[in-house]
Amino acid sequence: MSILVTGGAGYIGSHMVCSLLEQGRDVVVLDNLVNASYAALERVQALTGRCAIFIKGDVRDRSTLEHIFDSHSVNEVLHFAGLKAVGESIEQPLRYYDNNVGGTLSLCKAMATAGVRRLVFSSSATVYGHVERMPIKETMPTGRPTNPYGRSKLMVEEVLRDLCRTDPRWSVALLRYFNPVGAHESGRIGEDPSGIPNNLVPFISQVAIGKCGALPIFGNDYPTRDGTGVRDYIHVLDLVEGHLAAMETIARRSGVSIWNLGTGQGYSVLEMIRMFEKVAGRPVPYTIQRRRDGDIAECWSDPSLAERELGWKARRGLEEMLVDTWRWQTANPRGYG
Ligand code: NAD
Ligand code: UFG
Repeated sequence: MSILVTGGAGYIGSHMVCSLLEQGRDVVVLDNLVNASYAALERVQALTGRCAIFIKGDVRDRSTLEHIFDSHSVNEVLHFAGLKAVGESIEQPLRYYDNNVGGTLSLCKAMATAGVRRLVFSSSATVYGHVERMPIKETMPTGRPTNPYGRSKLMVEEVLRDLCRTDPRWSVALLRYFNPVGAHESGRIGEDPSGIPNNLVPFISQVAIGKCGALPIFGNDYPTRDGTGVRDYIHVLDLVEGHLAAMETIARRSGVSIWNLGTGQGYSVLEMIRMFEKVAGRPVPYTIQRRRDGDIAECWSDPSLAERELGWKARRGLEEMLVDTWRWQTANPRGYG
């Protein structure tokens, strides 16, 4: 049996495909390469000595999906395909809803037709919106995400809940990622943002290597220990291991299961800079800017439900996350080039 990985050429998806191939699983990747390079999958092949079947196509295209389900014996789907840039989602809301919500609807319809009802969905901590009390548990109500990207994630969660309510043969994991960072320990695959990075760690990394001038710190007047925003950074390889554990668990359950994938530990922007300077052995200049619209002061997980139910726990600490980021950055100054 094969696993379909949508968005499998992307940052998290390529690390997932690498791990699945290492485990001897057969993998079909569907990706339209809107935010990825085929080179990532070539490198995965070089690392694992195995090859995923790659289909360049759009998850919204029913005929492509039907072709995949007709020609491969897929029994589960990992759904990473999506657009993820918060700022862009504010400028292009219809594109985001069409891609992220429309893409999932199309995927679920094709899965239903093919009789495949096991799905792992890449959700996000953004669905909690503004939370007063940390850490965040899965039982806390979802909030009001502050942008179309976040709302698209929440909408998909609701769609998948409705689907499981009406048809108990479905088994769906909603994995709420906190802040994925880091790269494969080989330095061969990693995050390759196009243009100016939106997220903190790729930005710091590009400042350290001299591609960007100075890091803008978005606000130092938050009610946090040093005034800068606090987040729960998780190594992408820990995230991948969380998916493997979730896949095993939903094979034995039905309905919707929700797990936070985080470390349970928050770090501020200034703490991230200090750790990066230590790891890279060079300074990371920064400037203090006004707060970024829609940002929250702090966000970190209570990951204990995943530990209890999945037997999974993030193992890699902040230093390892940033060492691996830096190895990837220095070995690939132009990303996949
Ligand atoms: P990414 O952009 O690197 O990967 C997404 C992949 O999906 C890309 O390869 C892109 O080409 C592909 N894709 C997008 N739309 C598609 C479509 N319509 N059809 C086929 N392929 C399509 O992003 P990532 O960081 O690897 O994120 C993977 C998933 O996890 C996304 O759904 C994202 O929203 C979610 N997520 C990411 C983060 C994060 O900080 N990286 C946090 C929470 C959730
Ligand atoms: N930050 C800066 N300067 C930058 C970039 C970020 O100071 O140039 C700060 C932010 O203000 C925030 C922290 O660094 O305090 C982390 O910001 P990121 O943009 O790296 O991450 P976010 O927590 O804002 O959002 C990320 C993803 C979302 C996802 C969310 C939760 O971008 O898609 O994590 O999973 F929803």
